[in-house]
Amino acid sequence: MAVVFNKDDMTFTLQAENYSYQMKADEKGVLRHTYFGRRIDCSDRSADYPCKEYGFSGQPSDAENDRSYSLDSILQEYPVSGTGDYRRTCLEGYNDETAGMLDLRYQSHQILKGKYSLKGLPALFANCEEECDTLIVTLKDRWSGVFADLYYAVFPQKNLLTRAVVIRNESGEAFVLTRAMSLCLDFPEAEKEIIHLPGCYAMERVPERMRLVRGVTSFSSRRGHSSHHENPSVILCDPGTDEDRGTCMAAVLVYSGGFVIEAEKTHTDSLRLIAGIDDHDLRWSLAPGASFTAPEVILAYSESGLGDLSRTLHKGIRENLISPYWSDRERPVVINNWEATYFDYDGEKLLRIAQEAFSFGAQMLVLDDGWFGERSDDTSSLGDWKVNEKKLGCTLRELACRLSDIGMQLGLWIEPEMISEDSDLYRSHPDWVLGHPGRGRIYSRGQLVLDITREDVRQYLKDSIDKIMAQADIYCLKWDMNRSICNLYSTARPGASQGELRHRYVLGLYELLDYVKERYPHLLLEGCSGGGGRFDAGILFYSPQIWCSDKTDPIDRVRIQTGTSLIYPVSSISAHVSQSPNHQTQRETPITARCYCAMQGAYGFEVDPSVLSAEEKAFLRKETAFYRENQGLIRNGAFYRLHSDELYSAWSFVSEDRKKALMILVFTAEKAVRQTVLIRLKGLHETALYRCGSEVHTGRYFMQEGLQWSGPEYLYESQKILIEMI
Ligand code: DGJ
Repeated sequence: MAVVFNKDDMTFTLQAENYSYQMKADEKGVLRHTYFGRRIDCSDRSADYPCKEYGFSGQPSDAENDRSYSLDSILQEYPVSGTGDYRRTCLEGYNDETAGMLDLRYQSHQILKGKYSLKGLPALFANCEEECDTLIVTLKDRWSGVFADLYYAVFPQKNLLTRAVVIRNESGEAFVLTRAMSLCLDFPEAEKEIIHLPGCYAMERVPERMRLVRGVTSFSSRRGHSSHHENPSVILCDPGTDEDRGTCMAAVLVYSGGFVIEAEKTHTDSLRLIAGIDDHDLRWSLAPGASFTAPEVILAYSESGLGDLSRTLHKGIRENLISPYWSDRERPVVINNWEATYFDYDGEKLLRIAQEAFSFGAQMLVLDDGWFGERSDDTSSLGDWKVNEKKLGCTLRELACRLSDIGMQLGLWIEPEMISEDSDLYRSHPDWVLGHPGRGRIYSRGQLVLDITREDVRQYLKDSIDKIMAQADIYCLKWDMNRSICNLYSTARPGASQGELRHRYVLGLYELLDYVKERYPHLLLEGCSGGGGRFDAGILFYSPQIWCSDKTDPIDRVRIQTGTSLIYPVSSISAHVSQSPNHQTQRETPITARCYCAMQGAYGFEVDPSVLSAEEKAFLRKETAFYRENQGLIRNGAFYRLHSDELYSAWSFVSEDRKKALMILVFTAEKAVRQTVLIRLKGLHETALYRCGSEVHTGRYFMQEGLQWSGPEYLYESQKILIEMI
């Protein structure tokens, strides 16, 4: 068992191959966090965090005036407000019985084989019972019937740990939750750096690293989706940690709505990390007997640097989060017509694009925005999911059949959560929009948000999707979401429950995605939110890949993709070869850079083939064939960020048996500054011989002496090199 309980000192030890996690219920029943770090023996105990009088700290009544016993300094698993702990806490709420104060103490626990699941929420799963063990520790408020079940799942071989929390109200009156976090991690010392992934539209997830200072460092999204602006994930590392060295851990929320992550360097120089759903305006009423589930957090730990930490997460997400049907299945090479046509197309134009793209290796046309209602720009028709046959000049079935004649599949863009005011749906159901009817609408991209907290709205969307799916063989749905959400108000709910909407929206979304996943198990769902505005582990449970950004310029894209790869597997990053000059930056780049950057993910095209030269098409034909042949290596290989700065980026994929590696190098500087670049490969077998071009050396040689380039020969030169064991 990966969970060991010692009843003599009430200690729980969670054991993975490279980490141990320990906690204990102390003599007062407070669940103390005692250890998270390098694997230790179950019998090992770390020294208790010094309990002393720090001043201005509270003591609970059962401390009997022992001034050294304060929840303001003790390291805990699930701290709550109202106990004299003045740090950020996990759980807040009120009713007459609790008067806003809680004091959770150990009540009982269960150790189970296999992985728990969370009703209505995405979560990691175990592929077999042996892969994982679960611990549930139940805490109870000393004074009321409020319970917290703390869920832990240990994946010993994967070196992952998950946590989630269920709050239960067993008291006789409703309990209103105002904060219910998923994770608290108390560390005895705060000499750490924190890495988060801030960004903006079309420049998502550009890592930022900083030293923690006293006080609370907070990253959050209040936008109703995980957002372009922050990502629901964070890394804590020792100063000096780099790709290959140093101790680090990551916390990744499996959630797609607004969130908050707080790192508090406390008055005792300890560190508290808290993560959970956005608690801004949260008022969630728990009737007697009801429960609330705080979403899962994935934790990973490494003593071998950020590269190893990322690879641990990548493997876990690929094998234990992404739908098993897709986890090891070839993805189609798609051509998406968005940048080729925007709204300006008909069936013939699409077929021409498809025909040409087929000639250089595409397997699927994803028909983007504009095929439904009267949509000829972004001002109308969202919600009217009825094929515009007049615009297409044919039915969807005819289009799919003609594509199939070419040898291509059909995929379809859709934006189910949104509604245009200029739509039949809005004209018949203006009350289906989120927003207060008396306060005016808040528009973004000219559109409004559907109230998917309503059952009838969700049913309408399920029916609409079913109707579309019945019209043709559709192999992929690109599920887009093109605005952030504000003025959350549902006309269908009593006033007091409006504070539940943010989370109910996400639950509504998950219900829809669950429906589609269950009903069309072989459909490829591609997540999207104006590019990468909802790139999170919650969405990856339903969609094996997410359109990473609307920025298709390869030089910026490499930065975005490399940042994304800190947490998320490369197989989940949808990346397309685009046009030059680029539509967003006007930058001109060679086809090599555009193509090889797209090989840092689920490769496809975002280009009008008619603007490509014959040489470019020939190049793409050759390289797409290479990609298709080596997709397994790119999708499942261990990913190494070899180098990344202003001048160049290099990365590699190494197969699990280490027999094959692919290295890609892209010069990213604005000016072609010639230099000699040395790239030391990683992850090869030390003594085995490898061939790289005409060179044959041991793995050790390629890892120590590296590969040398003198470049770039031309602006944004890019290279791709296969290294094979002989
Ligand atoms: C935003 C997406 O990221 C784009 O790829 C495209 O699908 C547009 N929406 C269509 O409106």
